[in-house]
Amino acid sequence: MSYDLIVIGTGPGGYVCAIRAAQLGLKVAVVEKRATFGGTCLNIGCIPSKALLHASHLFEEAGHGFAKMGISVGTPKLDLPSLLGFKDQAVEGNTKGVAFLMKKNKIDTYHGTAIVPTAGKVDVAMADGTFQSLETKAIVLATGSDVAKLPGIEIDEKRVVSSTGAIALEKVPGKLVVVGAGVIGLELGSVWRRLGAEVTVVEFLDRILPGMDLDVAKSFQRILQKQGIGFKLASKVTGVETKGKALKVSVEPAAGGDAEVLDADVVLVAIGRVPYTEGLGLEALGVETDKRGRIVTDMYFRTNVPGIFAIGDVIAGPMLAHKAEEEGVAVAELLAGQAGHVNYGVIPAVVYTSPEVASVGRSEEELKAEGIAYKVGKFPFLANGRAKANDETDGFVKVLADATTDKVLGVHIIGVEAGEMIHEAAVLMEFGGSSEDLARTCHAHPTRSEAVKEAAMAVENRAIHM
Ligand code: FAD
Ligand code: NAI
Repeated sequence: MSYDLIVIGTGPGGYVCAIRAAQLGLKVAVVEKRATFGGTCLNIGCIPSKALLHASHLFEEAGHGFAKMGISVGTPKLDLPSLLGFKDQAVEGNTKGVAFLMKKNKIDTYHGTAIVPTAGKVDVAMADGTFQSLETKAIVLATGSDVAKLPGIEIDEKRVVSSTGAIALEKVPGKLVVVGAGVIGLELGSVWRRLGAEVTVVEFLDRILPGMDLDVAKSFQRILQKQGIGFKLASKVTGVETKGKALKVSVEPAAGGDAEVLDADVVLVAIGRVPYTEGLGLEALGVETDKRGRIVTDMYFRTNVPGIFAIGDVIAGPMLAHKAEEEGVAVAELLAGQAGHVNYGVIPAVVYTSPEVASVGRSEEELKAEGIAYKVGKFPFLANGRAKANDETDGFVKVLADATTDKVLGVHIIGVEAGEMIHEAAVLMEFGGSSEDLARTCHAHPTRSEAVKEAAMAVENRAIHM
């Protein structure tokens, strides 16, 4: 068979790229080695973790949140197999949805492992044991990422788990030690804490959520501590002894010093993800990768080998599903002769805990490092009518605007529904808007989003409710 485009990998980058290319009239095929479409995100990432976050949040609300509103439901009982079943259904619904979209867009699908022997050719070792040799004008590599391993610590996905094992634990661990205070550690740590685990997070740096605005990260850490999550910052896990009933986790100060031993039933290793290119044959092809194993591309997603492109987690940039999707659309449009483009300055990031943490644009630390003079407008949810009515007042909105032009450079929110609220800031920034534009936009009352408007007003010290 011969195609205009073969996409390898059907995560958010790959499947979106295939659909957009098919919409633009290209003859497209995808190759996926997993049994289902949707990649990390739909099968073992975004979707299952969010289903667990949703269900565990409601479990906690039923136990602690309802009573204060005069709703008595007794002590909620956890049925973990059903809760995991709810998560599995969410995965199935989403992956089947992608299969439907492949058919709808007349995209040929190959289930198997792709190898690229040369530009213009893709060989597929099919899941059914057969072999297919395909020809194509262009190849998009969208093979995603895999769990970063901690040297000397073996992940068995039962007691020492990555996120993949942590979304499928058969029992609530009595004690869960999480290695890494990044997005996965805090989201899945929250899930198991809500379901009854005692959670301790060990983080190498002296702060949580590196990359996020420090003020936000500090405040968020206090909120998580109030919820019962323990933190050991500036610390490293040097070993996990798996003999015996309890795991023995050795923790040392990052700067060196005496080790302490923590008992754990489960250890979650969440220290980042690494690009996945295994078995593609990139070395023989001469496709350039960087020191971190990421495929090197130019602004048109071209690798150094003509006809071979790459997008998503396997190239540089934040490892986020929506970033991969934007790149998928852009490269498809470029291949169809259009002007595909991704604005990397406006990619929102959300931590789906309760409250949520959301940001778009630059942090204060980044602005300082770049020597950009900025103004800050901050507004707490404690002063927002809707947040008070719902008794969900943790957190704040922070707007960072250029000191000279007033252009909004970053917006950071901690609060319930922050992940939804961040998008008005993203749209504003996409259009190059100012804090004045945001401050003068009428926001419905009573909504949590009024806090965004008030934070923008606070840039010029004219917030009304503060
Ligand atoms: P992937 O989704 O990794 O897909 C790559 C696909 O390529 C896989 O299906 C793989 O089987 C296939 N493949 C690889 N090699 C071959 C080959 N040789 N032949 C055939 N197929 C191949 N991001 C968010 O934005 N929001 C979230 O809430 C979020 N939550 C997450 C939670 C967890 C627990 C994890 C682990 C990740 C989460 N992410 C989240 C990150 C997100 O999953 C990734 O950024 C996203 O999946 C990257 O998409 P991708 O298309 O680049 O690759
Ligand atoms: P991460 O990069 O977010 O966090 C890893 C953390 O581990 C960092 O704080 C790092 O300092 C720490 N660390 C590294 N080595 C360590 C060590 N030896 N000991 C202790 N701490 C150590 O990576 P994470 O959480 O594994 O997530 C992987 C990727 O998946 C992220 O890039 C993220 O973008 C994506 N993701 C996104 C989600 C979202 O958008 N809501 C949810 C989950 C994952």
